[in-house]
Amino acid sequence: MVYTLRKVADREVMPIGFGAMRLGLEGRPSADDSVGTLHAAFDAGVQLIDTAVNYCQDPDEFGYDEALVARALREWSGDRNQVSVICKGGVLRTATEQVLLNGSPENLRWSCETSLRSLGVDQIWLYLLHGVDPKVPFEESISALVELQREGKVQHIGLSNVGRKQLMQAKELMTIASVQNGLSLWNRASLPLAHLCAELGIAFHAYGPLGSRGQDLLNPVLTNIAARHGRSPAQVALAWVLAQTDTTIPIPGGRRPESVRDSAAAADLELSELDLAELDDMQH
Ligand SMILES: NC(=O)c1ccc[n+]([C@@H]2O[C@H](COP(=O)([O-])OP(=O)(O)OC[C@H]3O[C@@H](n4cnc5c(N)ncnc54)[C@H](OP(=O)(O)O)[C@@H]3O)[C@@H](O)[C@H]2O)c1
Repeated sequence: MVYTLRKVADREVMPIGFGAMRLGLEGRPSADDSVGTLHAAFDAGVQLIDTAVNYCQDPDEFGYDEALVARALREWSGDRNQVSVICKGGVLRTATEQVLLNGSPENLRWSCETSLRSLGVDQIWLYLLHGVDPKVPFEESISALVELQREGKVQHIGLSNVGRKQLMQAKELMTIASVQNGLSLWNRASLPLAHLCAELGIAFHAYGPLGSRGQDLLNPVLTNIAARHGRSPAQVALAWVLAQTDTTIPIPGGRRPESVRDSAAAADLELSELDLAELDDMQH
């Protein structure tokens, strides 16, 4: 498979990542099967794994998903240095709870330290503010991340679930390595932000790139284009995300090794102008 690498902070990586959220939330596979799914991603050449402190079922297992990623890396026979892990803090939602934003410096420090322990590392390569907490002044959350970076606990900093205003504000206070927002054929609201990131040379990680629900992939526009290329509808959906800007990197999720392998194979799918026009016009 031949594809162009994409830059994230100081690394160049395969243009399709993997989001490990579904290995931690309700409906998750067993820990052994989850490790198998992560190994399928590593074996397929995936170099970016997205996780977060709150990808778990109950508050007493914060860090569960990160510990799974750490175990999968430990037990993998390949070169661990090829794989980079993105962690997030600032949201304390679990599958059974409502979204609970907490962007206080105390919680960000606690979250980061929990992630460091769960991953078994001294430094997290890329750490993101998971969401903006309206109860905490934005600069306070950002300053907390800068402090963690100053202490060497995180190497690079990014933002998730932000808008243009917050990105520009944060950019004044620190170097932003990546933005992670939802982006897919079915959710295009963050497309202008993805373009802004490309202009600024910031990686844009597209979460939920398959629409988060399997049935979206049955759309006839998608299935027709997939048939033309002899590819899966999921690969076409991911290739559309990839085609939006040069710094966009989809991070599809999945519980099954088959899903992960299929998604990774989208890295070399180039869509024609006609394909892209049809997808742009697709009802969503
Ligand atoms: N920053 C944030 O606030 C935020 C929010 C949401 C998600 N995320 C991140 O983004 C990642 C992806 O989002 P997501 O998991 O919600 O949605 P998604 O990637 O759009 O969809 C995942 C679903 O698609 C299925 N799937 C995956 N690859 C497939 C393929 N090639 N063919 C057919 N079906 C396929 C999976 O099935 P199986 O489960 O059966 O394998 C899973 O049910 C998450 O894992 C998480 O890391 C971040």
